[in-house]
Amino acid sequence: MQSLKIEVNTDELIQRIEQLASISDCPEPPPAVTRVVFTETDLKARALLGSLYEAAGLNVRVDAIGNTFARWVGSEPHEAAVGTGSHTDAIPHSGMYDGTVGVLGGLEAILALKRAGFQPRRSIELVMFTSEEPTRFGMGCTGSRAMAGAISIERLVELVDDAGDNYDVVRKRAGFEGSLESVRLQEGYYHAWLELHIEQGPELEAASRDIGVVTAIAAPATYLFEVVGVGGHAGAVLMPKRRDALCSAAKIVLAIEYLAKKSISPDLVATVGQLHVHPGAINSIPSHVRFSMDIRDTDMTNRDDVVAEAVAWAGRIAKQREVDVRHLCLNSDPPAISSPIIIDAVEKACDEAAVTRQRMISRAYHDSLFMARISPSGMIFIPCRGGVSHRPDEYSAPEQIAKGVSVLARALANLAE
Ligand code: GLV
Ligand code: MN
Ligand code: MN
Repeated sequence: MQSLKIEVNTDELIQRIEQLASISDCPEPPPAVTRVVFTETDLKARALLGSLYEAAGLNVRVDAIGNTFARWVGSEPHEAAVGTGSHTDAIPHSGMYDGTVGVLGGLEAILALKRAGFQPRRSIELVMFTSEEPTRFGMGCTGSRAMAGAISIERLVELVDDAGDNYDVVRKRAGFEGSLESVRLQEGYYHAWLELHIEQGPELEAASRDIGVVTAIAAPATYLFEVVGVGGHAGAVLMPKRRDALCSAAKIVLAIEYLAKKSISPDLVATVGQLHVHPGAINSIPSHVRFSMDIRDTDMTNRDDVVAEAVAWAGRIAKQREVDVRHLCLNSDPPAISSPIIIDAVEKACDEAAVTRQRMISRAYHDSLFMARISPSGMIFIPCRGGVSHRPDEYSAPEQIAKGVSVLARALANLAE
């Protein structure tokens, strides 16, 4: 292993993160960020990345759904590459570090390795995944899912946004052409995969550790519930006659919270984050309600048991209140286990960089959930203040980000040799 003097240019990295954050549809100024896939804002962010990749001398390829690969070609270009990266889409009204630290931090890791005079044997490839967030199409990680073959093309193009446009139409309108079949990567395309991300939880900060070495990613699932009652005039229909879809939905939402709280697994979490009420008028009884359920656990069997209980409760509540309820599974993913080879490379890199570390699981999901299906994979976490994420006040200190980049650079070098 070449002895490396890794110097992260923290000021420039933070300036790039802030510049990216300024490309946002959030009505509030940065750090509040909204950047939804295939919007003009997403395209502007991609253009900024494109100019940074060009300045860094990376070879860029964009696939048919906008996954972007920026490659530092190694001395043995035909060997499987080492991959790193994350996403730059941002849920409504979120912060500026989720995902971006992995993309811009990955770029800075490459630049730091170049400045250190490192010459990789294997190519090092920086990936920006399309749509890690489920905001537009209801399903997270569509870019990495498609790359790993974890979603069929038929299913991908069935996904529709709120305007009723499907994934295929929307990606083409955004300028991404080509066959959807070509998105899939073969197993063995990457020799190793490593993603840098903020923790999005409080454990590292509480333990005063610099780095989290991720051993597994919890299993996420998403469901849609639809409650159909009977609408009517808010003044004229007396209470004994009502079959109010929203009141029924409210009971189901509280049942979901109850079931999650009483679960035997401390890692089980369930969230209803979206609720659409039809017709949505002050003086009209809701006839139709649609809501989401995001549910996760490190133990997939327990997660699915809680889903089954939630569905049973929903059925009973619907019967009592004389409404109809349906549910639809949008995704139900298994957990990912990090490769011991990648864990080892990250821990060695932490020792070389003289930073403190601990092993941990990721409760949030990431594109690495799917990269783990086609490559030995792992993740590096850095602390974020108060464990806050998916909020504008999400924050990681520059020195914490720099430590993460330094560890990433060293681990990539080790894996690419
Ligand atoms: C990713 O954004 C997640 O919801 O875990
Ligand atoms: Mn996120
Ligand atoms: Mn993320």
